[in-house]
Amino acid sequence: MRTPLIAGNWKLHKTPREAVAWFTDFRAALADHPHDRIEVALGVPATHLPGLAPLAGPAGVALAGQDLSRHDDGAHTGEIAGAMLADAGATYVIVGHSERRADHAETDAVVRDKVAAARRAGLTPILCIGEVEAERDAGRAEAVVLDQLRAALDGLEADADCAALVVAYEPVWAIGTGRTATADDAQTMSAAIRGALREARPALADDVRILYGGSMKPANAAELLAQADVDGGLIGGASLDVDALLAIVDAGQAAA
Ligand code: PGA
Repeated sequence: MRTPLIAGNWKLHKTPREAVAWFTDFRAALADHPHDRIEVALGVPATHLPGLAPLAGPAGVALAGQDLSRHDDGAHTGEIAGAMLADAGATYVIVGHSERRADHAETDAVVRDKVAAARRAGLTPILCIGEVEAERDAGRAEAVVLDQLRAALDGLEADADCAALVVAYEPVWAIGTGRTATADDAQTMSAAIRGALREARPALADDVRILYGGSMKPANAAELLAQADVDGGLIGGASLDVDALLAIVDAGQAAA
């Protein structure tokens, strides 16, 4: 009932030209990897979207921005609006990634506004939530994650906007560290997230996709993706490598 989403997150890597060369290789190889039961997306710097868009569409790969302004337009130097990402070829946008929460002091209120801005632009937000290590050690992981979720949901009034949401559970201690949450941990938190969604929007909770992110790689993808409430992955490091991303696409297709 939920189509799994395998989404790469390139972060601050590659130039636009390197991205086109990478994608050309990826597209050729992807043709030999059935992916009709899943969606594949790539989160790239905004500068890469115009070059990738003509290639990604025919390959059946969606593009995602990695951040957007909470404003639609105006005097906001350096910002990129949701409508600009959409016009450049994105259909998704990552919102509230822990690196932005940490490096750019993005608060829950800013994340809420960005989720709403994404929907105004017709983009599907991939809302990132996750606890830091000290919060997990203190037994507060679930409370922290659900608080982040509820804060973001405040920005979405219409049911259609909620239904379009993708949630990515990304334990911060697992991002880029090589440490992965166990499949049990990922399932337990994803089930808690779905429970909170059900409280907020009873009719929609079963439609919202919940991804796992944090050192997902070919060696652990199958086990994580087999969990009942894990509907895909948000993949950083491994998404820069054609073969690694293809192996995760295979795992997603097998789990679907
Ligand atoms: P990682 O990053 O796969 O490199 O841990 C995941 C993310 O930050 O989305």
